[in-house]
Amino acid sequence: MQVLSVTPEIFPLIKTGGLADVTGALPIALAGKGVAMRTLIPGYPVVMGAFKKKKAVYQYPLLQGGKASIHAVQVAGLDLFVLDAPHLFDRPGGPYGNATGADWPDNWRRFAALSQAGGDIAGGAISGYQPDIVHAHDWQSAMTLAYMRYGKAVGIPSLITVHNLAFQGQFGAGIFGELGLPAVAMALDGVEYYGGVGFLKAGLQAAWAITTVSPTYAQEIRSAEFGMGLDGLINMRSTDLYGIVNGIDVDIWNPETDKHLVANYSGATLEARRANRTAVEDRFGLERDDSPIVCVVSRLTWQKGMDILAAVVDGVVAAGARLAILGSGDAGLEGALLAAAARHRGRIGVVVGYDEGLSHTMQGGCDAIIIPSRFEPCGLTQLYGLRYGCVPIVARTGGLADTIIDANEAAISAGVATGFQFAPNNAGALLHAIRRLVDAHASAATWQSIQRQGMKADVSWDKSAEKYVELYRLLLSKRAA
Ligand code: ADP
Ligand code: GLC
Repeated sequence: MQVLSVTPEIFPLIKTGGLADVTGALPIALAGKGVAMRTLIPGYPVVMGAFKKKKAVYQYPLLQGGKASIHAVQVAGLDLFVLDAPHLFDRPGGPYGNATGADWPDNWRRFAALSQAGGDIAGGAISGYQPDIVHAHDWQSAMTLAYMRYGKAVGIPSLITVHNLAFQGQFGAGIFGELGLPAVAMALDGVEYYGGVGFLKAGLQAAWAITTVSPTYAQEIRSAEFGMGLDGLINMRSTDLYGIVNGIDVDIWNPETDKHLVANYSGATLEARRANRTAVEDRFGLERDDSPIVCVVSRLTWQKGMDILAAVVDGVVAAGARLAILGSGDAGLEGALLAAAARHRGRIGVVVGYDEGLSHTMQGGCDAIIIPSRFEPCGLTQLYGLRYGCVPIVARTGGLADTIIDANEAAISAGVATGFQFAPNNAGALLHAIRRLVDAHASAATWQSIQRQGMKADVSWDKSAEKYVELYRLLLSKRAA
């Protein structure tokens, strides 16, 4: 089975968050299950720099205002189609904005171009390659499914995975004329969204199936509270809606072999984590003692509940925990956390920035990782935490609710607890959970049992990749029908 995946990010080439981890790991997991996944990505500078031989398999004299071409290459074990369109993608900064983080004003054009290329490949543009199924991710590639629906690839089964409903790609009606879609597409059941054009909305409408990255989030987005204006449409399509929890790449995230760790370890050698802990204490300027280090590895945003954490840092320190925070995002939140670190020197350390290597060291050396998200489609850092014996303490929402077993007394005595959950997500409940964690940490036997139980959890892609394969098969049978 040939599946074309279309995405704006893929690990290890270009990553701003969990989307890249997922689109990078899924093809590898699927390969063992008889699915050949090829991924179409934009030719950002880092992507164009990652391969030498440039041989175009398709040429556009004009695509969204400039010349473009598609290259078929293999990088880091991934089969890629790279859309080289220098007028759209040859820019400094991140995949969506400039170095200061401001979105590019022509993002609609950039990701319409990516999607148009996806639609063209689905329609047979590249000789010798015909996908059986097209799999899009998030708003940046969602329009692929609209280009398919209103073009040659209307009969090819498609699905879209929603990694985060908060990002919708909503633009003014004025862009419609430049999308190259027929006039009928500007309709309620097409790309029209609140009077403008909605990229994610268009994908949700055109997709044969809709998936999101955990069963709980799949239910949550049917409500007004989590649906972000799309709950009506999602409910209409609920028979085609699936929640498949993310896995992680257990080779890249393996404490027994991870090169970013000072000391490697397994569930049988947990005491070796101490050397990593010392490295974290040094890096974050924390006093050396036996109190638990709770870490944060996150975008610093409202979604991630970082304001809730910032509001209770004094209480966290008073409860006897230390905090090591790695992240970047909202300037206000960065400031609040840096101020907390200045107030609690030696007890709270903050590194503002993005550092893949350090994120591994933290999972390997901290005692716990806190994820107080207001909503969380899946969340990956709690899965890395499980694998590394860095006990997750999470808000009970979305994928966090689905992947962590709360250490209540019954779960502890049954030996099944893997972390701590709290709800509702507010300062009081968060602090209460921190106090429970500090208490549990005081008993080495209890703590190690939670760590080991987490390390035994199956966080690999195996089961979830199987679920995608089942869904692909179901869609193929609908095509045949
Ligand atoms: P989201 O995609 O919503 O940001 P996820 O938990 O799914 O949340 O994925 C976040 C990914 O980004 C994880 O791989 C995490 O380790 C990584 N990450 C987030 N912030 C940083 C940071 N400041 N430095 C290094 N890695 C980070
Ligand atoms: C999004 C979500 C996150 C999820 C990731 C990968 O960024 O915010 O919860 O884990 O996508 O699916």
